[in-house]
Amino acid sequence: MGILEVLFLFVVSFIFSVIYASSDCQFSFCGSNNIIIRFPFQREDEQNPYCGYPGFNLICTNNSKALLKLPHSGVFYVRNINYLAQKIQVYDPDDCLPKRLLSLNVSGSPFIHTFTRNYTFLSCTFQNEGSQFIPIDCLSNSTHFVSAVPSLNLPNPLPASCYVISSLFVPVAGQEQQYDSNFKGEFSQDLVLTWDTPDCRYCESQQQLCGFDRNNNNQLFCFSYQTGPSQQGIQIFRIITLCIAGPAVIFAIVMACCVCYKDRLANISNIAIARSAPATVLPAPQIVTTGLDESTIESYEKVVLGESRRVPGPNGGCCWICLSEYNSKETIRCIPECEHCFHADCIDEWLRINNTCPVCRNTPSPSPLHVTSINP
Ligand SMILES: *[C@@H]1O[C@H](CO)[C@@H](O)[C@H](O)[C@H]1NC(C)=O
Ligand SMILES: *[C@@H]1O[C@H](CO)[C@@H](O)[C@H](O)[C@H]1NC(C)=O
Ligand SMILES: *[C@@H]1O[C@H](CO)[C@@H](O)[C@H](O)[C@H]1NC(C)=O
Ligand SMILES: *[C@@H]1O[C@H](CO)[C@@H](O)[C@H](O)[C@H]1NC(C)=O
Repeated sequence: MGILEVLFLFVVSFIFSVIYASSDCQFSFCGSNNIIIRFPFQREDEQNPYCGYPGFNLICTNNSKALLKLPHSGVFYVRNINYLAQKIQVYDPDDCLPKRLLSLNVSGSPFIHTFTRNYTFLSCTFQNEGSQFIPIDCLSNSTHFVSAVPSLNLPNPLPASCYVISSLFVPVAGQEQQYDSNFKGEFSQDLVLTWDTPDCRYCESQQQLCGFDRNNNNQLFCFSYQTGPSQQGIQIFRIITLCIAGPAVIFAIVMACCVCYKDRLANISNIAIARSAPATVLPAPQIVTTGLDESTIESYEKVVLGESRRVPGPNGGCCWICLSEYNSKETIRCIPECEHCFHADCIDEWLRINNTCPVCRNTPSPSPLHVTSINP
């Protein structure tokens, strides 16, 4: 519903203006990318010494990707940032993580990897295909394939068609499945790096933001979304925002309700008019219908109920028009197609005004009798 969307946007922009007003360190994004960039991360083009921690710069590409640059290992795209767990999930722009892991060196950056495992990278000729070594496709060419094996599982001696490229500690997702998982499965996933400094886990766990204290520059500080370590000007801005946005939201809600209820009231009054109309036009006064003519109505089967009061067809024990039970010796009339039956008086009255069955709304076709009366 359009009105609800407008209302939702209003409330969201209101909430965000409150957040922004509490600190001049804003949340930012890389274009349409939905990764929130905030302390300790900062966009490289938004250098505010209070709003980011050294080494946590992200570069926005012009295709809306956030890019992390490691001093000794080049660039990675950012998939996700978990501020509470202090983890950043990155991937290789060329989609060949094993190649990047072979030369990964995070020294000089604030990032570390928690779990590593000693892997041996092998290069084998394709004669060895079908062996226990699983090729890493993006490192293989037409004659040789590269595979990585946990160093402890390395066969000794190596097959003659293989040689060792290098053995190194490679970051892995966790400690479990230490020796049975193969490299390919492990590293089709992203690389997850963590950081220990700055430690904002306490603030984050309290649903607060972490940042530098303005008065004591090297000190980290937790501040809530509402009351930041903000200066007077920001406080005033916040109050103004509240003063403008508050009534605006209330006004929007009232307007939305008015528009909603106007429609609803119109419907209700239509129904009320229908209810108060005389009984003869009771069925659907809104719909202009033409009833059936007497000869058609008369052509429908009439039954006089016996002692058993059994009504043919899919009918209950009462007439659906007057809602009273059938008694023996009463005359009922049934509509041919749907076999719905009613008191003859009730249905005759109905069919003079409507040409549909009151139960199933099917239009009965003219009876054979009626057809013959039309055709010469
Ligand atoms: C990004 O912009 C630069 C120049 O500003 C351009 O050379 C480059 O092709 C662009 N890249 C993408 C992916 O659009
Ligand atoms: C990482 O790079 C730094 C600087 O080039 C170097 O001193 C260090 O030895 C490297 N570490 C590893 C494990 O290669
Ligand atoms: C394939 O890679 C191996 C090293 O793994 C290299 O010695 C060989 O020349 C490469 N072959 C081709 C056709 O590129
Ligand atoms: C990894 O394991 C291999 C074989 O067990 C060993 O030779 C190598 O030194 C280990 N690598 C590191 C970096 O410790």
